[in-house]
Amino acid sequence: MLISPSILAADFANLARDSAFAAEGGADLLHVDVMDGHFVPNITVGIPVVKSLAGSVSLPLDVHLMIDDPARYAEEFCRAGASILTIHYESPSSSSPADTLRAIRALGVRAGLSIKPATPVEAVRELLPLCDLLLVMTVEPGFGGQKFLPGSLERIAEARRLIDGLNPACLLEIDGGVDETNVTACAEAGADVAVMGSAVFRGDPRERLARIRSALGAE
Ligand code: DX5
Ligand code: ZN
Repeated sequence: MLISPSILAADFANLARDSAFAAEGGADLLHVDVMDGHFVPNITVGIPVVKSLAGSVSLPLDVHLMIDDPARYAEEFCRAGASILTIHYESPSSSSPADTLRAIRALGVRAGLSIKPATPVEAVRELLPLCDLLLVMTVEPGFGGQKFLPGSLERIAEARRLIDGLNPACLLEIDGGVDETNVTACAEAGADVAVMGSAVFRGDPRERLARIRSALGAE
């Protein structure tokens, strides 16, 4: 299981320091939640912050766009230094998700597609061959610190089956309410990458990550 700590729960005045702690703790990626106040009722960070982080953090940036019209901004986020750029299936957009995923890949960035909890997993079937990552949200996007939604394990297992059948190279990522108590069940259901905000940053990320790794080690 790869771990992608979400800086949404970090200290925004000390992002480089907290990201370095996450790297020291053995994080695999760094998850950056971009929110525009339209697609979700919250506002976070944008292109300049991704650019600064890319220049000062050793971890690959796993950028999660929770915005309207991701097609309009995808190229700038890629050029800012995203390693993975994930758009939402549900976002209203000036280009189709398929074209946006293709455009992201054409810039040498891994293309991700995310679905909200109410979107059937089957909805992404046709798009899966264009994806390097499928992000199954395990809370309603918008805020950190929410509870892992019931029914998520079944959705993870369903996404696993779809990926195995159509594009086994695609990573399956989960995001929201994941911590050391449920991460093992998520791994068993087939998740490859766990995003964790509160579980990593509410405390010393190095200790938190060690605890999460030992929970996973007991798999
Ligand atoms: C929520 C974000 C998540 C958030 C997860 O919309 O996409 O990445 O940071 O936070 P936790 O792990 O605290 O639920
Ligand atoms: Zn996220």
